[in-house]
Amino acid sequence: MPVSVAVAGASGYAGGELLRVLAAHPEFDVRTVTAFSNAGQPLIATQPHLRSLAHLTLVETTAANLRGHDVVFLALPHGHSGAITAELDDDTLVVDCGADHRLTDPAAWDAFYGGEYHGAWTYGLPELLHAAPAPGTAEEWRDVDDITGLGRQRTELAATKRIAVPGCNVTAVTLGIQPGVQAGLVETDDLVAVLSVGPSGAGKKLATTYLASEIMGSASAYAVGGTHRHIPEIQQNLVAAGAGDVRISFTPVLVPMARGILATTTARLSPGVSARDVRLAWEQVYADEPFVHLLPEGAFPRTADTVGANTALVGIAVDEAAGRVVAVSALDNLAKGTAGAAVQSANIALGFPETLGLSVDGVAP
Ligand SMILES: NC(=O)c1ccc[n+]([C@@H]2O[C@H](COP(=O)([O-])OP(=O)(O)OC[C@H]3O[C@@H](n4cnc5c(N)ncnc54)[C@H](OP(=O)(O)O)[C@@H]3O)[C@@H](O)[C@H]2O)c1
Repeated sequence: MPVSVAVAGASGYAGGELLRVLAAHPEFDVRTVTAFSNAGQPLIATQPHLRSLAHLTLVETTAANLRGHDVVFLALPHGHSGAITAELDDDTLVVDCGADHRLTDPAAWDAFYGGEYHGAWTYGLPELLHAAPAPGTAEEWRDVDDITGLGRQRTELAATKRIAVPGCNVTAVTLGIQPGVQAGLVETDDLVAVLSVGPSGAGKKLATTYLASEIMGSASAYAVGGTHRHIPEIQQNLVAAGAGDVRISFTPVLVPMARGILATTTARLSPGVSARDVRLAWEQVYADEPFVHLLPEGAFPRTADTVGANTALVGIAVDEAAGRVVAVSALDNLAKGTAGAAVQSANIALGFPETLGLSVDGVAP
C-alpha cells in the first residue's frame, strides 16, 4: 500500500520541490496539497511544472485537512508549524522544512527568531557527524553507523515521528567543514563562511530586493555582522560533531542564479596538521555517503552541477601561507538543501532505503 502524503505550503518554492521529488518516489502517494492565499486554485496554477499532479487542488492549511495521512510535510513560513502539529496524531510522520523545530536551545530561538518556542525535533541531516568517542569508551558508544563505522545522525532518524529539516545554508557549511571538526584538525573558534546564494532561498513572496531588475548583473551581501538566523544552527551542528566553542563569521551574498548555494568555509588548522591529514579526514568521512561527494584534489564544485540533485559537492584545499583549510561546498538549496533532505530523512524514518526516489544527478547546463 502506498504511503499517503499531505504537503502544506504546496504553492511555495520548498513545497513545489517537495512535490517534484515525491511525484517520482515509488512509495509515496500525494493526496492533499495545502496553501494560504492560493487555496482553492488548481496546484498547477502555482506549480505549472508539476504536470503529473495536475489533478490536485490546493486546499486551506488546516489541521483537519492534513490529518489522516501517513506523512505530512510542512513547508510553511517559520512560526506556523507548532500549532498545526499539536493537532496531528502522534503516529503521523511530520517533516518540517521550516525553522520551528531545529534549535535545541530556547535562548538561541529567542535571540534569532523570537515568538513561541515549540521544542526541537530529530534533526534531518543524516550525514551530520556525531562527536568521536573518547578513547576507551568506543564500545559503550551507541551511535555506530552501519555504513562507515562513525556515528552519524541517520541512526537518530530511524526511530522518529518528527523531523526538522535543516536550513539550506546550514547544510552547505556543515557538510563542508564537519570532517575537520570531528577529527580535531581545525580551530572551531575561528571559522569564516561566505556564501553565494540564489534568491529562491528567500521563497516566492514578493519583495523589491528579489526583483530581476535588482538582482541581475549584481551581487549583494545581506544579514552581515552575525545576524543571520542560520548561525546558531551551524554552531549546534558543529558542537554535535565534536566542537567545543564555535565562533563563526557568516556572510551570505545574493547572486543572480535561481537556485544554488556555493559556501566557502575556512578554518585555522590546529598545530601540526598537514594537508595530507586534511584530505584523509574528508575522504574517510564521505567515502560511502551516497549524497555527499568529495571532489579530487585541485577540483572545486559548481552550483550548476547540483541543480535538481540531492547531492552536495565538496572540494577542499589547504592554504599553507594562511594556515587555514578552505572547504568549498555546493548544493541546490531547494533539493539537498530542503526537499531532498526531507525525503531522505523520511525514507530512513519509514524504514525505506535511504536513497529511494532521490537522484544524485543534476541538470546541465
Ligand atoms: N526556499 C528555500 O530554499 C528553503 C530552504 C530551506 C527551508 N525553507 C523553509 O521552507 C519554508 C517555506 O519556504 P519557501 O521558500 O517555500 O516559501 P514560499 O515560497 O514563500 O512559500 C510559502 C508557503 O507558505 C504559505 N503561506 C504563506 N503565508 C502563510 C501563512 N500565514 N499561513 C500558512 N501558510 C502560509 C504560502 O501559501 P500561498 O502561496 O498560498 O500564500 C506558500 O505555500 C520556510 O519555513 C523556509 O524557511 C526554504
